Amino acid sequence: MIVHHAINFWCNYTNLLKSSMDLSVQEIICLPIDEYRKLPLVNINLTKNRNPKFLHRALYAIGISGITLTSYATLIAPQWIEITEHDIPIDNLPSSFHGFTIVQLTDLHHSSIVTLDYLKACLWKAVRLQPDLVMLTGDYITRHKKYAVPLAQAIQEIIIDMGIPVYAVLGNHDHWNDLSETSVGQLGNRWGGDGETVFSALTKAGIRVLMNESVVLQRRADRLWLIGCDDFLSGDFNLDKALKYVPMSCNEPRLLLMHNPYPIESIAHHGFDLVLSGHTHGLQVSLPFVPPKIGRKYLAGLFHVGQSRLYVCRGLGVIGVPLRFMTRPEIAYFRLVPSPA
Ligand SMILES: [Fe+2]
Repeated sequence: MIVHHAINFWCNYTNLLKSSMDLSVQEIICLPIDEYRKLPLVNINLTKNRNPKFLHRALYAIGISGITLTSYATLIAPQWIEITEHDIPIDNLPSSFHGFTIVQLTDLHHSSIVTLDYLKACLWKAVRLQPDLVMLTGDYITRHKKYAVPLAQAIQEIIIDMGIPVYAVLGNHDHWNDLSETSVGQLGNRWGGDGETVFSALTKAGIRVLMNESVVLQRRADRLWLIGCDDFLSGDFNLDKALKYVPMSCNEPRLLLMHNPYPIESIAHHGFDLVLSGHTHGLQVSLPFVPPKIGRKYLAGLFHVGQSRLYVCRGLGVIGVPLRFMTRPEIAYFRLVPSPA
């Protein structure tokens, strides 16, 4: 009798155990209360549809993706230079300037994280394009004055000594630069300084820095105006002063350099054929699925604003963290062409 009960108990238990292992949570909830109480708790298969291998593979994939993206953003993208080419149609472009070429370099940000070797490589890339002119639109250094002279000398040796004229304006970081290496931590975010050090270094290197002024390029009887403004954010931005000698009523082409594109909507009525800006770094780090133009309307690329045309270059250097993501460093190459009739 005892043996019979033992066998009967064992069979019931194993059947219940077997059935419980195949039950889903929904099935268990629907069981009569008596049978539910009989279920061995340790064997209720609440994880019937979970696959441990899948979880391991998912974690492995996330880890590999993270390492790959971090390597790309820190080791590849910051120095993966893109040369962009643009034909700029200009109404009444004088024949002497048909096909006139300009290279724009901006936001070089020479610093401890943007080396002179890297920037020299950028300058050599610019020279190989054989432009008629190089335009620099600010932010040559970050934080420290000591970076100004070496960079200016590199521009002189690589570009100016090759016979290519260079025109420039200052950016906000060229004014914020009086911190020594040891005082950065003490001063925190308190920036100071002025643009004098960078202005002086560039000028001594043979670069024409336009501080709210203009120059005219002349080929035979044809003329093209270059206008440059001090930085809007940290300098003395004064477009009226820069335009003082520019004949706005005539049809001579007018090109404006200003580091920060922010004022473009308030000055577009002047009808600039091309305004060159930088400052944004193309956001430097752009995340997928996040709208890239939050808070910044003119982030990168070509824009038609009122009667003017604006180009915002992503620049060559970085600030803050030595990485870029989905915004490669850029050298912009422009060719002036007559507008179609
Ligand atoms: Fe910058």
